[in-house]
Amino acid sequence: MTREERMRFVHSRKSDKPLYYGSYLGLDRVLGSVHPVSRSLGKEAHDEHLFISTHQAYEIWFQQIIHELRSVIDIFAFPTVPAKLVIVAADRMERVSKIQALLLQQLSILETMSPMGFLEFRDLLFPASGFQSTQFRVVENMLGLKSDSRIRYGKTGYCSFLADKDAAIVKEAEDSPTLLEVLNMWLERTPFVELGDFDFWAHYREAVNAHARMDHASIDANESVGPANKLKLHEDVDSWLATFDQLFDEEAYAAAVKRGERRLSYAAFKAVIFIELYAEEPILQGPARLLKLVRDVDELLTLWRHNHSLMVHRMLGAKMGTGGSSGFHYLKATTGKHRVFSDLFDIATYLVPDANLPPLPHDIMHRLGYVLELGSDASAAAASAAAAAEAASADA
Ligand code: HEM
Repeated sequence: MTREERMRFVHSRKSDKPLYYGSYLGLDRVLGSVHPVSRSLGKEAHDEHLFISTHQAYEIWFQQIIHELRSVIDIFAFPTVPAKLVIVAADRMERVSKIQALLLQQLSILETMSPMGFLEFRDLLFPASGFQSTQFRVVENMLGLKSDSRIRYGKTGYCSFLADKDAAIVKEAEDSPTLLEVLNMWLERTPFVELGDFDFWAHYREAVNAHARMDHASIDANESVGPANKLKLHEDVDSWLATFDQLFDEEAYAAAVKRGERRLSYAAFKAVIFIELYAEEPILQGPARLLKLVRDVDELLTLWRHNHSLMVHRMLGAKMGTGGSSGFHYLKATTGKHRVFSDLFDIATYLVPDANLPPLPHDIMHRLGYVLELGSDASAAAASAAAAAEAASADA
């Protein structure tokens, strides 16, 4: 809509009936949607109101999360993603993470209900369960949780617990591009990972070996560690070094993908490492922030799963869930098994300190740094400002 069209639209609205707060927000419907089953049976359990309101608040926020994730997936589904859209996507992922932080806290409100308070109405809920939250499944699927990676219960897929129309929505989310997939494609296209004549990965391998040699030397020099412990520490350094096979050998990486240990492609995984190593370079700051926020979202979902399982433990002990699962034990198992972005967390294994990093050729640093071509006076001024800033940070 152009500015003129918008002004005409706003003007025309002024002649309409003025908007009213309650009707704009649909509050009659929203607030009129709390119907405790216990009330309808003539003996209202006080805490059922809180139980329903809490779940409804969750569903409203899930809807917002889906809205944000959909736009982020759309951004990365394009064959080229302008840098400013990476920032837009990062801002939206940050919003998702803030909502998740709120959702995490909401559990503690529900925990003001005692197990006895819950028992007053719990049996009335059978067989309904949070397991049937369509929007929660859509969020999981949009992130990239695959149905064959899910813990199964009841020998059937999770869709069989849903009404047909909800199963169709979940299935559609399963079949649509996921955040993991579109990010993977975008990462595969990261420039700078293969740097022409400069074989970055050969230099990085040398940096890793140098770091391992330093670690071995400092173990040997440590007089407070006995021979048996030294042997163990040397073995630890060697096994850390062995994990790099996956990074430097594409076939070893492919085998890890086959074993289900890795979800990112080899090219995408290497791109993430490069971005992490040089995250402070201006051109990589946006991508690095985005990857940090994806980790935040994965972590906050895992924390929610964990805290929800603890809450279920305190409410139900070892009883079965209303949806028919083993309750606490099932939920606890999902905490580890249903993570989507573990690869992004494992990346830290492959990082070496700044001091060990191979110096990049000047022209590459130039491109990473958005360096402007200024006149000679301005270039000299910019160079001395940069040197002063570096000296100040060294002093600090
Ligand atoms: C007293 C509070 C709660 C109890 C006792 C409880 C119990 C359970 C149990 C036992 C399950 C496993 C499925 C089953 O057998 O029923 C489950 C799953 C689930 N619950 Fe809750 N829940 C509570 C509150 C909540 C809240 C506030 C939400 C927010 C939407 C929620 C969302 C979910 C979701 C999404 C699942 C599926 C998790 C998965 O399959 O990974 N629950 N809940």
